Amino acid sequence: MKYTRTEIIGCGHYLPSKVLTNDDLSKMVDTNDEWISTRTGIRSRHVVEEGELTSDMALNAANIALENANMTAQDIDLVVVATLTPDNTTPSVAAKVAGRLGVKPGTPAFDLGAACSGFVYSMTMVDNMIRLGQIKTALVIGVESLSKIVDWTDRNTCVLFGDGAGAVVVRAKEGEGLSSDTGVLATKIYADGTQYDSLGTDGGVSSTKTAGFVHMNGKEVFKYAVGAMCEACDAVLSQANISTKEVDWLLPHQANIRIISSVGQKLEVPDEKVIVTVDHHGNTSAASIPLALSESVQAGKIKKGDLVLIPAMGAGFTWGGLLIRY
Ligand code: UT7
Repeated sequence: MKYTRTEIIGCGHYLPSKVLTNDDLSKMVDTNDEWISTRTGIRSRHVVEEGELTSDMALNAANIALENANMTAQDIDLVVVATLTPDNTTPSVAAKVAGRLGVKPGTPAFDLGAACSGFVYSMTMVDNMIRLGQIKTALVIGVESLSKIVDWTDRNTCVLFGDGAGAVVVRAKEGEGLSSDTGVLATKIYADGTQYDSLGTDGGVSSTKTAGFVHMNGKEVFKYAVGAMCEACDAVLSQANISTKEVDWLLPHQANIRIISSVGQKLEVPDEKVIVTVDHHGNTSAASIPLALSESVQAGKIKKGDLVLIPAMGAGFTWGGLLIRY
């Protein structure tokens, strides 16, 4: 029996050229490279220049992904952008990017808000639409300009975040329904709104008429993140009937090296199979997973046929997992 899977056929990423190192930050707030690198694993992050917008980064990543996929914007049936830092409150970044790319008018495009889990949520939606036969192809982008909602006088948060974009082009592929087929093998998403105040911004359109600045209860988030990401990994592995030993790469949301290492240790995935980009990207929220994926593919680490386990967790709280045979 034929079985439809969602296959990633191209990916791309974009990082703004401006880099902020920990030493740069130590001139702005009372911090130092030693504290930031030991507590978070972050050494540098990219930040947008004045006038460089979320949609600009998304467009750059999307163009590379389309080129890698050997497709044009005209071939795309759906555009989804995961972000919490849009250019405008409305319309969506997805609509802007679709228009600038030259996606056919009439093609659906929307933004998805699930914070750091945004890419996992987006891929879950897209995978379901593809398997239902509603669309054949999609462009899925994760992009953030977090530097715009960071309070640059607050050392508790400003050292943690960065800007960037990652994109994938996915296409329906008929397979046998085996775990050796390439494509998305399993997805699972979750939320717990009782944790609404643990991580987020202190403002928004309907409350303060501003975007607000990021704040969080770091310790609470940290503890929750490890358990939630492990839960999501277990769920997708059991759905696909695959053991952790078969996983080629663990590619977690990149928030903090200590969270990433704890998840790796709990799942018993050896360090050399864990993708880490937080050191040079910081936490880029919805962009972190597609950024890390694209960078790892470009570097020749993740290869066609590799089994990639992708957990994420973020504000909401939201969390989830993807199991993909690349
Ligand atoms: O994307 C998903 C969401 N985000 C996350 O997953 C982040 C989760 N949380 C974390 O990564 C960590 O909790 C942080 C990195 C945010 C903080 O690490 P921590 O080990 O929990 O530190 P802490 O907040 O308990 O702060 C320890 C000390 C405090 O000083 P006192 O009270 O012990 O004197 C802070 O004031 O470190 C101080 N501190 C800093 N010192 C130098 C906080 N930020 C800084 C800083 N530089 N930038």
